[in-house]
Amino acid sequence: MSEGDVLVELDGVVKEFGDLTAVKNVEFSVHRGEFFTLVGPSGCGKTTTLRMISGFEQPTRGEVHIGGQPMAAVPPEARDTNLVFQHLSLFPHMTVGENVGYGLKKAGVGANERAERVSEYLGLVDLAGFEDRDPAELSGGQQQRVALARALVNEPSVLLLDEPLSSLDRKLRKLMQVELRRIHEQTQGAFFYVTHDQEVAMTLSDRIAVMNDGHIEQIGTPEEIYREPASAFVADFIGDTNLLDGQVVDGGSTPVARIGGPDGFTVPAPGRTGDVTVSIRPEDFGVTNGDGVVDGTVAERYFQGDQTNYVIDPDADIEELQVVVQGRKSSVDTGEHVSLGITDGAPVVF
Ligand SMILES: Nc1ncnc2c1ncn2[C@@H]1O[C@H](COP(=O)(O)OP(=O)(O)OP(=O)(O)O)[C@@H](O)[C@H]1O
Ligand SMILES: [Mg+2]
Repeated sequence: MSEGDVLVELDGVVKEFGDLTAVKNVEFSVHRGEFFTLVGPSGCGKTTTLRMISGFEQPTRGEVHIGGQPMAAVPPEARDTNLVFQHLSLFPHMTVGENVGYGLKKAGVGANERAERVSEYLGLVDLAGFEDRDPAELSGGQQQRVALARALVNEPSVLLLDEPLSSLDRKLRKLMQVELRRIHEQTQGAFFYVTHDQEVAMTLSDRIAVMNDGHIEQIGTPEEIYREPASAFVADFIGDTNLLDGQVVDGGSTPVARIGGPDGFTVPAPGRTGDVTVSIRPEDFGVTNGDGVVDGTVAERYFQGDQTNYVIDPDADIEELQVVVQGRKSSVDTGEHVSLGITDGAPVVF
């Protein structure tokens, strides 16, 4: 992508609150048309990062650029951004139409054009004709969509969204994810999305930045982050995984990591020596006919419909293994002795 496509750029951004460094030397770029998600556990610095982009917080060090311009002296209202919060904040005494048109009115847009734009953006969030309703007459999901329309109607280059779905129930959240993706595709700008929910991040994003304790651990597409995690933290935070201790031993042409001593099992461990951590996803184990790499007893079995989750107690002296079997493949029962294979090339070594 060319330089001109960069809408938001953070360069060596640090934020200190007294003794606490909430954001540590963060660098990333968000491109035009991109759905970029910052994901990480509670308190890792996501909202603080977002607030430095919106201008409600100033970096202690480093720089934020929007549209190629340095933002140090630019107040929030003069930035080409708009914000959608976790706890929606519609004006209760205004109708839906007045809520959505509020920013346009402040900007001096005339009544006719305002009505047109409000109607256009209510249509975009699938609420055509809702202008005269009161916010109190809407469901949680509908209110959240009004908040979205209100943020989008000014056509900001960058829409900043801070956990906008977390107050919704699971079903509505899934529905709104699809809506958000669709709305994003119909707008020209970039979405900068903040969440602690890795599932939402995986579903929506073009690229994900994984944040941990104030710094960025990895930036990549959902697939890169999941298949090639840069650290044990990323492997564990994005999706489920088994993190196992091992030692790299001479395995001939490729080094191998031995897990659980001489009675354990080995996996290829390219590029590493000494003590390692091996990440194996639950779905990368498979139940075999007895010629697998690790044997054990089924300790627990949880039927989930589309998949069955198992906890396997290995014969070797290692931790229990989380195993997922998709669909109707090889059903085994609690107490059965099984032999597990591992998908070639799936384990990642740190
Ligand atoms: N105004 C402030 N003054 C002092 N400390 C703050 C301030 N704002 C945030 N912090 C601290 O900075 C750290 C990062 O907070 P932040 O709100 O960015 O986390 P977050 O990743 O958004 O978490 P969550 O997922 O819970 O929303 C936390 O330890 C928080 O307590
Ligand atoms: Mg937050």
